[in-house]
Amino acid sequence: MTTEKVKAAVSAFVAGSDSPAGKLQSVCNLLRKEIEGYDWVGYYLVDRNALEELVLGPFAGVPTEHDRIGFGEGICGQAADTLQVFVVDDVNAEANYLSCSPHVKSEYVAPVTWNGKLVGELDLDSDQLAAFGPSDIEFLNWVAGVTGETVALAAGFQFAE
Ligand code: SME
Repeated sequence: MTTEKVKAAVSAFVAGSDSPAGKLQSVCNLLRKEIEGYDWVGYYLVDRNALEELVLGPFAGVPTEHDRIGFGEGICGQAADTLQVFVVDDVNAEANYLSCSPHVKSEYVAPVTWNGKLVGELDLDSDQLAAFGPSDIEFLNWVAGVTGETVALAAGFQFAE
């Protein structure tokens, strides 16, 4: 599938009638299946009942022990703290990193915001070093953006908040 076709499918999932979590699950499954090197694809959701914690949402790939991550912990926690996209070419060179599987070599994490608020994150792991190049980053930033409202709904944020 070309990137344009994957984008069209992601847009169709977002616009569809599935539950917010169901839509995100479909996006994760699609990205993992269609794109070489995307070995783990998942969303973390801001836990509205905890102080600065992310909780694991829909994902495709091997299960992870990191189902809750505090802001500041690991790559995900740093992305939550700074609201920056993190691209790590070699996770073994990172001091503040939470390992999910010994096979993982590189990682991409983007904060997902809605109405100017952090509502979750898009997280990808690859078993290849430096798997996330400029075109991946552009595409994944687009996915993070287009799924913002869906992530907010999956995390339980209300529009008025
Ligand atoms: N590696 C992440 C933890 C999440 S797993 O990749 C699924 C981190 O350092 O925050």
